[in-house]
Amino acid sequence: MSHTSRNILVTSALPYANGSIHLGHLVEYIQTDVWVRFQKMRGNHCTYVCADDAHGTPIMLRAQREGITPEELVARIKEEHEADFAAFNIGFDNFHSTHSEENRELASHIYTRLQQAGHIDTRTIKQAYDPEKEMFLPDRFIKGTCPKCGADDQYGDNCEACGATYSPTDLKNAVSAISGATPIEKESEHYFFKVSSFEEPLKAWIAQGHGTSATVQAPIAAKLNEFFESGLQDWDISRDKPYFGFEIPGAKDKYFYVWLDAPIGYMASFKNLCERTDGLNFNDYFATDSHAELYHFIGKDIAYFHTLFWPAMLEGAGFRKPTAVFCHGFLTVNGAKMSKSRGTFINARTYLDNLNPEYLRYYFAAKLSDGIDDLDLNMDDFAARVNSDLVGKVVNIASRCAGFIKKRFDGQLSATCSEPKLYEEFVHAGEEIADNFERREFSRAIRQIMALADKANVYIDEKQPWVVAKEEGKDQQLHDICSTGINLFRVLMTYLKPVLPEMAEKVEEFLQLPSMSWDNCAQPLTAHAINKFKPLMTRVEKEKIDAMLEASKEELATMSEETTSVTGPLADAPIGEMINFDDFAKVDLRIARIVKANHVEGADKLLQLTLDLGGETRNVFAGIKSAYKPEDLEGKLTVMVANLAPRKMKFGMSEGMVLAAGPGGKDLFILNPDEGAEPGMKVK
Ligand code: MSP
Ligand code: ZN
Repeated sequence: MSHTSRNILVTSALPYANGSIHLGHLVEYIQTDVWVRFQKMRGNHCTYVCADDAHGTPIMLRAQREGITPEELVARIKEEHEADFAAFNIGFDNFHSTHSEENRELASHIYTRLQQAGHIDTRTIKQAYDPEKEMFLPDRFIKGTCPKCGADDQYGDNCEACGATYSPTDLKNAVSAISGATPIEKESEHYFFKVSSFEEPLKAWIAQGHGTSATVQAPIAAKLNEFFESGLQDWDISRDKPYFGFEIPGAKDKYFYVWLDAPIGYMASFKNLCERTDGLNFNDYFATDSHAELYHFIGKDIAYFHTLFWPAMLEGAGFRKPTAVFCHGFLTVNGAKMSKSRGTFINARTYLDNLNPEYLRYYFAAKLSDGIDDLDLNMDDFAARVNSDLVGKVVNIASRCAGFIKKRFDGQLSATCSEPKLYEEFVHAGEEIADNFERREFSRAIRQIMALADKANVYIDEKQPWVVAKEEGKDQQLHDICSTGINLFRVLMTYLKPVLPEMAEKVEEFLQLPSMSWDNCAQPLTAHAINKFKPLMTRVEKEKIDAMLEASKEELATMSEETTSVTGPLADAPIGEMINFDDFAKVDLRIARIVKANHVEGADKLLQLTLDLGGETRNVFAGIKSAYKPEDLEGKLTVMVANLAPRKMKFGMSEGMVLAAGPGGKDLFILNPDEGAEPGMKVK
């Protein structure tokens, strides 16, 4: 190998354990995974770890609402996340949880070191407190009237109407979004990390850089400079009980704020892997004199935590700091923020139900750069790009040549390479392509690969094997042309392997190759047997995209707000706006008999119900297919909102709504009242 092997540890941000993985998240996991696969293909020793971010108030509250323990919730979501990631071929070497023994120990250890070195302060602060729920309220859980513009129903820290930011104590008519109670101010002692003590080492770290990359990207460095200029504030790292997290050693009823132990979760996941992997040693990677490289891939919304607090914590606790932190921008869909009502808030699973994960991997790679600009998933462009590049250009090369090799030459490639210069050109381009992968300039790498694909197609167009095939005595020529085509295809698929691991695996089988890598495609395949060509990738169908967008809208209509809610710091959906009794009294709840229940063609979640209201019949679509077979419902009683204005849905008019309870999936219960209830009866 021409280069020395590096030891690299890579992480993606730890997804919150209170929501599903969506396409926005996947920008990050796909970006990281492509980079890691590239490093491994280059012969570097690269380890990729992640975990669920399990702690915090939103997770605690959601578990309470579902009537389960936070541990149960976190375990269920972890399974879901792992299945989604696996389906997108995100090749974590370990996926752990921040609610783990390793993390508890490491968090205590780091905190204790910081504390012993005098980097922790305590002081008493005043905070909003919900007297009914008996807990302190994070800003996101307080709602009220904006002090600036008077808009109602605004969150505790900023106004969506006028953009003002303020402290929750400034809100007028503030209420707790959890209980509706009026918050009171209450004092409590908090623990603070004195980040400002680390200003000098942080500045040195940021200036340092490494090989091909700066420690942080230029716009992030500029932002950090602003923070330095305005003075670093102490960071509040404690939360009062009740809280789902780790108790602070030596403090009573105080917990680490979720963001304290979250990045330590990177170390914990790695430690957990080291404990069961020969030759992988935790200290080799985290001691201050470590020669290993450490990279964090994150979204720009969490740069602050990763480029100030985290390196300061590591410095203060006697560990090495990251080699670099790589930020990416946010995903928009069709040019706008992902939106539930437009169906563009797409969960990983909904995508997988409709489309091939490698399409998305390719599309994101084709758009990603080393910057922090937002990235748009335009659905028409997505289909056009995948179809023209992958199906039209790359796969086309193989499909134009493979048939002749099989039929006319017994599946054997030519004994010599007839186009050594062309082949050499493809191999040579590999170094620049590799360089672009290394620098996370994936879109450039893809552009170069596609330019080569164009070249290969031009070669075949010019040589016209389909014409040569019909001419007498031109067997050798035909053999050479098709063998060259296959060889060029092999080089292209080698370069695409970090992006399209599944397709590359099919190609390895087709070409009877052990494992394609930059190094082993330096020489063309000659006198080499290949297998029968099977379709490697099919075209993106417009109908499938539409079905995915429809299904995403349907999820909105049928799932509770909380399970589809945007994930982000504290973004689990709090209880909705309080309504008064008069509002509630307007809802006419009635007993209804399900006289008929049918599957709905093309709907994943809906059943069509015919409901008897005691004299009146209603057609209602209900998202309960995951929990009930239609035949089990017929004849049963349920409760419905009888005076809901009819809504036009994709599958027809829905005239009312059936009430269901439960976390979802198989556990969705539609009530089945006692004998004595009659259709049409009012529910009291
Ligand atoms: N739990 C924290 C991270 C802790 S890391 C020690 C968190 N979780 S998250 O689930 O909200 O986000 C996980 C990652 O996905 C973050 O890097 C975030 O920036 C990224 N993204 C979430 N939504 C995104 C888009 N719409 N677009 C691109 N990336 C996005 O933050
Ligand atoms: Zn306002």
